[in-house]
Amino acid sequence: LQTCRWHEFANRTQLEQAARRFILEIAERAIATHGAFRIALAGGNTPRYVYQSLRTAETDWSAWHIYFGDERCLPAKSPDRNSRMAQTMWLDYVNIPRQQIHPIPGELGPETAAASYAQLIADIDEFDLVLLGLGEDGHTASLFPGAAWEKGTALPTVIPIHDSPKPPLQRVSLSPARLSHATCVMYLVSGENKREAVIKWRAGIDIPASRITPAGGVDIFSSIC
Ligand code: 6PG
Repeated sequence: LQTCRWHEFANRTQLEQAARRFILEIAERAIATHGAFRIALAGGNTPRYVYQSLRTAETDWSAWHIYFGDERCLPAKSPDRNSRMAQTMWLDYVNIPRQQIHPIPGELGPETAAASYAQLIADIDEFDLVLLGLGEDGHTASLFPGAAWEKGTALPTVIPIHDSPKPPLQRVSLSPARLSHATCVMYLVSGENKREAVIKWRAGIDIPASRITPAGGVDIFSSIC
């Protein structure tokens, strides 16, 4: 079962500032304890300005290792790629060694991208931090309600998706179990259109976002209620 800590903010700016602080605190702790910080990023609009605000952070960028929780199967340079968004909003401005940035190769198509990413992350034990968003329909990463993954019993760690209800159709997503394999999991939730999904989530109704169940619980930063 998922343990939730809700952090509510009056507006998106406050949410963004608190999220920036939270990310940097976890980074410092991880770097102090094991010399590296492994973070998996989310796509969508809510993290966009959090990423931008990280450009000016004072941290040891050489210890950061960047991964992604999901990706859209589009050309590598497409502005709609989650990796491209993170790159242009943030990563292009900081000194993280190139070889420590690991986009999901969505341009190769769902099957090949998923297989290759599963192999890449097989070497990492747990993420220090997984960032996630929430969709109107309760989805998180590219785990949509009613899709095949919900019924799958032996899911791969990285799931190829061919029928996403949110464009594009083809995507790749880490599985709930793999996203749960993290010291911290943080959701960034903003926008009136998420209200209904948040109400369900808080009421304990099963939505994809409630399937991520790390041992340490999840922190939900929301500027809706
Ligand atoms: C994506 C995301 C997705 C996103 C939510 C919320 O590829 O679109 O990974 O899971 O986080 O849809 O997005 P917003 O923050 O834009 O509402």
